[in-house]
Amino acid sequence: MKKILLLGDIHANYPAFKAIVKGIHPDRFDLIINTGDFTVYSTFPNETIQWFRKRKKTICILGNTDRRILRILKGKKLKKPKKEEKRVMYFWTSEKLLPENVKYLKSLPKQTDFSLGPIRIGVFHGTLDDADEELFPDAPEDRFHKLAKDSPYQIHIMGHSHVPYYKIVDGVHFINPGSVGRMFDGDPRASFAILKVSSERISVEHFRIPYPVKEVVKGLKNNHLPDIYSKMFRTGKKLN
Ligand SMILES: [Fe+2]
Repeated sequence: MKKILLLGDIHANYPAFKAIVKGIHPDRFDLIINTGDFTVYSTFPNETIQWFRKRKKTICILGNTDRRILRILKGKKLKKPKKEEKRVMYFWTSEKLLPENVKYLKSLPKQTDFSLGPIRIGVFHGTLDDADEELFPDAPEDRFHKLAKDSPYQIHIMGHSHVPYYKIVDGVHFINPGSVGRMFDGDPRASFAILKVSSERISVEHFRIPYPVKEVVKGLKNNHLPDIYSKMFRTGKKLN
């Protein structure tokens, strides 16, 4: 049996990530998967990236915020997001990222896959079709049927919607661990999941754990970043 820790959408919230790592002992896992969005909206992008950069047995992909940061660093114009309070966070992050962490981000794919024995597993930020698709658990069933039908994978591990869920459609397992660092459901606790795969059984369990939100608020204040984010992290709501 393989035990896999599923993480995603950390959004530079290292205090939330650290709380998970402290509570679950990452060495117990055969593999740690990160579905992307390491960066933006909190002030610890370097600490977050560094942790994965220095660790073996991880599978990481880029999220939309990471891809935008790389585009800014290439000197390209930032078309989206349009809201100034969001743009500030992107520019702040791109200025603060250390070269070794930029290099690491550049080395990551947009999506990837691997096998555990006969089981094929795809890792996506959005979906198999579109890295920017937010696939919510209550999306029309047709959407899940279509993804299952076209899929070479028995397990899809996804991020981006920030909603934790586990659904089996036409024999395909769709898993979203939720967001480590930026939940939208009014519960500010960090979200993650544990996937267990053996030849007989696939099982998924979701968890929520509290973390010191005040550390994130302090980081934002010390860097004179928009107040809206402090409120967002305190309430666990998407306010922008
Ligand atoms: Fe995200």
